[in-house]
Amino acid sequence: MSVNDVRNNDLLNNINSKNYAAIEFENFGSPDELKIVERCNVKLLPTQIRVRNYATSINPIDFKTRQGLGWAAAQNADKLPMVLGYDVAGEVIEKGEAVTEFDIGDSVVGFVGFPLIAGAYAQHIIATESELSKTISHDNAYAALPLAGLTAYQGLFDIGKLQSDETVLISGASGGVGYLAVQLALNAGANVIAVAGLKNHELLKTLGDVTVIDYRNINNFQKLPDIDLWLDLIGGDNAISQLSAANNVSRLVTIPTITKDQVCETMADKLVSSDGMLVSLNKSQLTILVKAVEKGELRLNIGKYIDYKDAIAAHILAESGQLNGKIIITLD
Ligand SMILES: NC(=O)c1ccc[n+]([C@@H]2O[C@H](COP(=O)([O-])OP(=O)(O)OC[C@H]3O[C@@H](n4cnc5c(N)ncnc54)[C@H](OP(=O)(O)O)[C@@H]3O)[C@@H](O)[C@H]2O)c1
Repeated sequence: MSVNDVRNNDLLNNINSKNYAAIEFENFGSPDELKIVERCNVKLLPTQIRVRNYATSINPIDFKTRQGLGWAAAQNADKLPMVLGYDVAGEVIEKGEAVTEFDIGDSVVGFVGFPLIAGAYAQHIIATESELSKTISHDNAYAALPLAGLTAYQGLFDIGKLQSDETVLISGASGGVGYLAVQLALNAGANVIAVAGLKNHELLKTLGDVTVIDYRNINNFQKLPDIDLWLDLIGGDNAISQLSAANNVSRLVTIPTITKDQVCETMADKLVSSDGMLVSLNKSQLTILVKAVEKGELRLNIGKYIDYKDAIAAHILAESGQLNGKIIITLD
């Protein structure tokens, strides 16, 4: 047992109601940089809500930021240590006097602190009313929804302007964002072509009338029908090869921010429009997504629940790309 393990075990045994456990890192680097620390509650402002966070999920931005890559890492470089995470599934335990919409004990789902003030890899998190939506009951699986669901929704509808009866191709369809995007597009009446690895084709076909193609054979892209909207969740050279092979693509929304300029600039001549995007907080959209899950119109794909004490293993697994479905870090 390392010195850090001993320290972490001592902390876990001594957490009291004012203190809580969080997972932070002090230096950019490998998953081993993640450490369990004890943090102490601070007083709420009148507009703030304290949530007992039972679960968060791992999004690619988390391990990219931990590695020191991307915009969130650059913005936080001089503010380390940092707690990762934006997805929250928990319960209201305290509220400021100006909070009217939420009561103690409400089950909530939240997209909190994006992009600058992450902090959901923690048992307690402070949020505002605009960052939370109520759920009928608590379920740790809701942690898979906020960041991925809002990205899918905004990519398809706000930026992509998808209309019913249009044909949308979703590349990266079996991933955290793509799995939700496929369902949102189907629910909106679009014709959906889902690009995924062979091992995930059956899973995608269970979502409805979806044409599924394997990205490992580039010839598959030469046979595509006209595409109104291409939602690219892959980015970089792979996205460029796929788009270059296709015959007729109208609008492109490319989601990975790091390669947005490369993809948009390379493909500009072939497209009517090409856009990147950064997901943003939108409470009414988050509420639409929560209601869709509650009504059974939107399924969440959970790969594994992992206790926060195993956060290092959770990051190693997430980065490996071997597991289909979201990894939920539970914070009980
Ligand atoms: N701009 C923003 O605001 C924003 C927000 C959210 C996410 N993102 C970015 O969007 C990307 C997707 O996020 P995510 O959470 O959905 O990631 P994810 O869960 O890791 O999913 C990625 C998927 O990509 C698939 N894939 C790998 N290589 C592929 C290829 N050559 N062609 C097609 N599919 C391929 C994998 O499918 P198989 O397993 O089937 O092989 C995997 O399911 C990440 O880069 C993330 O950082 C950006």
